[in-house]
Amino acid sequence: MAAISMQTVAKRFGKTEVIRQVNLAINDGEFAVFVGPSGCGKSTLLRLIAGLEDVSAGSIQFDQQDVTALEPSERGVAMVFQSYALYPHMSVYDNMAFGLKLKKTDSTTIQQRVQESARILQIEHLLQRKPKALSGGQRQRVAIGRAIVRKPRVFLFDEPLSNLDAALRVQMRLELKRLHRELGTTMIYVTHDQVEAMTLADRIVVLNGGKVEQVGTPLELYHHPANLFVAGFIGSPKMNFIAGKVVASNGKQVQVDIGAGNPIPVEVGEASALGSGAPVTLGVRPEHLSVTRASANGNNEPPANVEGTVVAVEHLGSEAYVHLNLKTDAPVEPLVFRANGDVVWETGQPVVLKMEPHKCYLFDDSGAAVARGH
Ligand SMILES: Nc1ncnc2c1ncn2[C@@H]1O[C@H](COP(=O)(O)OP(=O)(O)OP(=O)(O)O)[C@@H](O)[C@H]1O
Ligand SMILES: [Mg+2]
Repeated sequence: MAAISMQTVAKRFGKTEVIRQVNLAINDGEFAVFVGPSGCGKSTLLRLIAGLEDVSAGSIQFDQQDVTALEPSERGVAMVFQSYALYPHMSVYDNMAFGLKLKKTDSTTIQQRVQESARILQIEHLLQRKPKALSGGQRQRVAIGRAIVRKPRVFLFDEPLSNLDAALRVQMRLELKRLHRELGTTMIYVTHDQVEAMTLADRIVVLNGGKVEQVGTPLELYHHPANLFVAGFIGSPKMNFIAGKVVASNGKQVQVDIGAGNPIPVEVGEASALGSGAPVTLGVRPEHLSVTRASANGNNEPPANVEGTVVAVEHLGSEAYVHLNLKTDAPVEPLVFRANGDVVWETGQPVVLKMEPHKCYLFDDSGAAVARGH
């Protein structure tokens, strides 16, 4: 087991810098997930940790040991990829034992480790089969088993579940969580799927364009995204963004004019530096919007409601995501809100939504989040 730290790590391919100034600390025994859009550098960062690529600058430590110049075989990592690359002519047992045989491990130890790994992965009954007689999920388990038998200090997974169907992916996710609990080994898992990241990670590292945008627990990222990129990336369906400008601020609340009815109050954490007229982006998640009646408001303040008409509905069964064209001065993207799946929606139907001050997010001109009130 090992803690991993990286200082100002950069990677260039020719003139293209694909990893920029990454400083990162992963705790011993942690399940860390690297997430980000395609091409943002997730695999490259993982390969730098594995030693499959050399850094162009910076250093990498496992515990207190500098491993920057070490070969992959000297780092004690095991990597599992999307493609399983099992040897087709060997049995499951031999596939799992292969790496240990190469290292001249004695046969009793090999047998013990393969049996133990097969037990953990629940593939003991498959040990004599050839890979072609296995399902995709079973093959992926063998690939993971091949990694476990080596007792690595760190497991590195690069999109290992991408080839599996949706149901099997969910099952394998739970199994990976169980595996992590049972082994307690540091794991780093790469995915572009934010749902996978949210459900697996102790902490998520959000990457974008070779840079770390934010590191935090799934709920920290959900409640307190550092910027527009993280806010838009974490959460499904994604957060709604509406451009607006500040019309008033009293330290606890900022009133934002979004060009659609009354200004929207947003609760903020600290006396905001945003003066009147400051351009901002208001964010609100589909699950935080609720339908209301136009005049429904207990006090005498103008209601922070937005009005619009239904343009599209995505039915998921238990819930539906309704797209609303807002009544605005300037055209904006449809606002998406979550509704009960039993309700019938007609295209063109008018809807009023309530915007709750403590459920809204605010971002300044540069895209940085304004601290939230809670
Ligand atoms: N050997 C290489 N030579 C040149 N450019 C490379 C090389 N490997 C990767 N890149 C580039 O580096 C960037 C990051 O690639 P990387 O494979 O790390 O992305 P990723 O986040 O894993 O993407 P995906 O989700 O599609 O797997 C990409 O723009 C890619 O084209
Ligand atoms: Mg990749």
